[in-house]
Amino acid sequence: MLERTVQIVSNRRDTDSYFRLVLRAPQIAPLIQPGQFAHVRVSTLKDALLRRPFSIFQVENDTFSILYKTVGKGTEALARLKSGQEVSVIAPLGHGFTVPKPGGETPLLVAGGYGMAAMYLLAQRSPQKGVVFVGGRRRVDILCEKEFQSLGWDVRVSTEDGSHGEKGLVTQPLVKELRWKMPNRKLFACGPTGMLRAVGKIAEEFSVPAELSMDEHMCCGVGVCLTCVIPVKTDNGWEYQRTCTEGPVFDADKVAWEIAQDM
Ligand SMILES: Cc1cc2nc3c(=O)[nH]c(=O)nc-3n(C[C@H](O)[C@H](O)[C@H](O)COP(=O)(O)OP(=O)(O)OC[C@H]3O[C@@H](n4cnc5c(N)ncnc54)[C@H](O)[C@@H]3O)c2cc1C
Ligand code: FES
Repeated sequence: MLERTVQIVSNRRDTDSYFRLVLRAPQIAPLIQPGQFAHVRVSTLKDALLRRPFSIFQVENDTFSILYKTVGKGTEALARLKSGQEVSVIAPLGHGFTVPKPGGETPLLVAGGYGMAAMYLLAQRSPQKGVVFVGGRRRVDILCEKEFQSLGWDVRVSTEDGSHGEKGLVTQPLVKELRWKMPNRKLFACGPTGMLRAVGKIAEEFSVPAELSMDEHMCCGVGVCLTCVIPVKTDNGWEYQRTCTEGPVFDADKVAWEIAQDM
């Protein structure tokens, strides 16, 4: 993990309220593993001390990028930054996805909205190509479909309003696929909590291993403040673990959803 002030190569609108930010970070880029995140300080923001966490989307030579949605003052300030300006980042952070070994599991990726960003490096670095199930409310929430197809992955789209792909939730085509009882498959998911919970349940039902990226609210991002904890099962019951350091990626069968529900 490194803290660096890095230069913006580009910061462009992707679709609707989604933007792509490319940063030149020669020391950080080679260290990045799929599913890790960067903690970005937007210095033009009044409470600039608070950083914002974003999954690392793509890595190319000495650059890495993030794919973000503008949802509040931090991301809106970020969207106003121009190439040539600088931001401070701490990265790479967190414990990411386990990349399948050659000849190992066939990955089935499940992404909701900006969850696609956390999946790209995994798809690129996995020796086996699999299926990406991507879902969103509307067509504009379906991100980088073509980029996953260019990697040779089978991309199955669903939207809640039916404006693109199958109408409904992303878990519907996933269940259909799992009914074909193929051996040696593993699920990897990133998206809204409700989707992650559903994927965890489906994994249990079909006895398929799964890893979930639990994107909780974060402050410090480096394991100190404990704002990001979730209950995780242990041999003696359960304990709180930090999504910024022990996560964001956890084995689905370790997440204690029944305790999280009462929190
Ligand atoms: C590990 C991790 C990876 C992430 N990766 C991405 C990514 O690749 N792309 C992306 O667009 N966003 C990602 N996020 C979410 C992103 O960090 C928040 O959207 C951002 O911090 C919001 O900042 P803001 O100041 O614009 O919004 P705020 O003004 O702080 O909040 C605006 C709204 O966004 C909600 N929000 C804030 N933080 C989160 C969060 N962590 N999860 C869900 N909702 C949140 C708030 O509840 C509020 O409704 C990730 C979060 C984590 C923890
Ligand atoms: S965000 Fe501070 S401990 Fe995780």
